[in-house]
Amino acid sequence: MSEEAVGCCSRRRLLGTAALAGVGVIGLGACGTRSAKAIVPPAIKGKVIARTGEIPVGGGKVIDKWKIVVAQPSQGTFKAFTATCTHQGCTVGSPEDGVITCPCHGSEFNATDGSVKQGPAGAPLQEFTVRLQGDGIIVE
Ligand code: FES
Repeated sequence: MSEEAVGCCSRRRLLGTAALAGVGVIGLGACGTRSAKAIVPPAIKGKVIARTGEIPVGGGKVIDKWKIVVAQPSQGTFKAFTATCTHQGCTVGSPEDGVITCPCHGSEFNATDGSVKQGPAGAPLQEFTVRLQGDGIIVE
């Protein structure tokens, strides 16, 4: 049986995942185009990873210590993604004008949801759930 690639997921993987989850394949059709939730390493869970004043609107920064890229795609909305490019593992650059660019081969990711805007990366950056506490951006 041949596998048909669908973004980062093979048809076989989609069907297997759907069967395990008890959901239809249609609900998983976005795989590869939208970010998945990142597994939060215990070392950063509940930690302040950045201060709101450090993250410009439309831009952001890479927190090297945690390998996380933090963005503020619109005023007061903060996002965090893994900073490891899904192409070949380089660390992505800081977001500019709503785009996270990988310096190695030029992949571009949307700073709003981590989705791929331009390859060669074929999978989105995984997203962390964050909340604000005062001016602290905290990974949950
Ligand atoms: S490693 Fe990021 S584009 Fe190749």
